[in-house]
Amino acid sequence: MMDAGRHPRIELLVNSEVEDITGFVGNYRARIRRRAQHVDPVECTACGDCVDVCPVALPDEYQEGLATRKAIYMPFPQAVPATYTLDSDNCLGFNPIACGKCREVCDKKCIDYDACDEVRDLEIGSVVVATGMDVYDPRATDEYGYCRFPDVITSMEFERLINAGGPTEGELVRPSDREVPKRIGFIQCVGSRSPNRGVPYCSNFCCMNTIKETLLLAEHYPDSRSTVFHQDIRAFGKGFEDLYSRSREEGVRFVRGLPGAVEQDAETGELVVRVEDTLRGEIAEHRLDMVVLAVGLVPRNSNGNGRPGQRSIDEILSLSHTSDGFVMEAHPKLKPVDAPTRGVYFAGCVEAPKDVKDSVTQAGAAASRAGNLLGAGEVKIEAITAVLNPELCAQCKICAQVCPFNAIEEANKKLKQDPFFIEAACAGCGTCAAECPFDAITMRHFEDQQVVSQIDAILADKPMEKVVAFACNWCSYAGGDTAGTSRLQYPPTVRLIRTMCSGRVDQRFIWRAFRQGAPLVLVSGCHFSDCHYIDAVTWTQRRVEKVWSQMEKLGIRPERLQLEWISAAEGQKFARVMREVDKLLREVTPQEVAKTMKILEEKELGAAPVLAPTMAAAEPVLPVVTH
Ligand code: FES
Repeated sequence: MMDAGRHPRIELLVNSEVEDITGFVGNYRARIRRRAQHVDPVECTACGDCVDVCPVALPDEYQEGLATRKAIYMPFPQAVPATYTLDSDNCLGFNPIACGKCREVCDKKCIDYDACDEVRDLEIGSVVVATGMDVYDPRATDEYGYCRFPDVITSMEFERLINAGGPTEGELVRPSDREVPKRIGFIQCVGSRSPNRGVPYCSNFCCMNTIKETLLLAEHYPDSRSTVFHQDIRAFGKGFEDLYSRSREEGVRFVRGLPGAVEQDAETGELVVRVEDTLRGEIAEHRLDMVVLAVGLVPRNSNGNGRPGQRSIDEILSLSHTSDGFVMEAHPKLKPVDAPTRGVYFAGCVEAPKDVKDSVTQAGAAASRAGNLLGAGEVKIEAITAVLNPELCAQCKICAQVCPFNAIEEANKKLKQDPFFIEAACAGCGTCAAECPFDAITMRHFEDQQVVSQIDAILADKPMEKVVAFACNWCSYAGGDTAGTSRLQYPPTVRLIRTMCSGRVDQRFIWRAFRQGAPLVLVSGCHFSDCHYIDAVTWTQRRVEKVWSQMEKLGIRPERLQLEWISAAEGQKFARVMREVDKLLREVTPQEVAKTMKILEEKELGAAPVLAPTMAAAEPVLPVVTH
């Protein structure tokens, strides 16, 4: 942090919020609101006189509420820059001025109650999102008595208590009576690995954090006795197994079993924990002086500072999330620090729970990805992008509304301006092309004619034995690969047509398949939180629902169009779905198919697309190279 603060090419904007980010890779514009600090950072010598006279006492967030801070304060001792800030929400010096003591006592006259927020617009090439995480709030489930017993504390509070920079300067005392606790119990997985009481995933760092704390206790308080209640200890990582062994050698007891509740003995005041030791097969009672809840990590998706009306960075950058609520990378193996939006990278726990080492590794990777991008001076993009034909465009604006990447600037009917396609921002999902009611958009490499040719070729021979299945590149199609490499059997009647995203599956493709005699059509894509094009999959669902209701109106059984979400890892599900659609295929009669073909012909649905000339998209600001 000190290095960053001193670096001549790094500008730290503290006390600031990102209000908006627009633009695209290499050409972003960020609007930053710098909150008034009310203390001149240049003049302030951090003498602390203002703090001494401030009459306001508030819970200190840095010390987990175990100590107090003043309304004028330094967030923590190593804060960079090392200047004070004034908490305007709680200071008594504001309108009407009821206090003003800090300003009176400040020799340098660096306190200004009238300072205003400053808004700055910055030109930036890339964005690294490192907004961190929150810890699970144990008040949500109180069987461990966090709200009832003062000596039941969280691992974060314990960390502050045993830290030399903490409220007790490293002296471990019980909150109830300030006595040194002798028998300390650590309960693992509070909020983690428990879908009913918190989150289903492992928070990654809690086991090793507890082991570190037990070693500190053994070092500083040899008389203390630590007991760790766990489901299993996950000591994965360099040197971690050694730490675990050392902890056991120091006499720390590890009990495999999580207590159902923490109670208090009314007479002695001891905390009582009953737990089934699943290794020994017995139920034991433990009497403790202090209980530490090893709370897990939860994603921070709300706005970073909790100010009402403030848009979160997730909304500003249209970040998508995995089912556990953390942001989703462009590819879990090949692009683990990239967001699906080009030029945006992730560092730290915003992407998944991780410890310090992994966070530092990922931050380094994100910084080099951003540095490489800026250093190159030009952006290479995939050639799969949308192209507009202005002759067909009716300026309806639908394309701009459905684009998950904000790559299309809306048409302006008054000025008779067509939508503007920012090619560098287009990720190639094809949703705009599928939604355009005027066929004015072409997706390079997945043009209407190309997809329709595949449909026609599949159904040219023995159509009654074929299921036309559209599969998105990233999940369903990859699920088929997983099924193949796992040597899972599924019927050969299913014929796959790959699109980059299920959002590309135009309803005209579905009608075309039925008109050409398909007994059954399957549209498959990623699970909602997995779509690699943010929320493109939601448009797939809406479109299929529209087709279902139209089918019903036309007297075509909607069951003949199936919609399934299959992830890349779900090879078994892929094979099962293929078996199920094969079964449905057998229920469709040739008469039913012939009737459908006739209806669609009469209604002029599913006709072959007319070849339309396309026009190249407008040039972006940075040179863009397609390959
Ligand atoms: Fe699979 Fe969008 S990428 S549905």
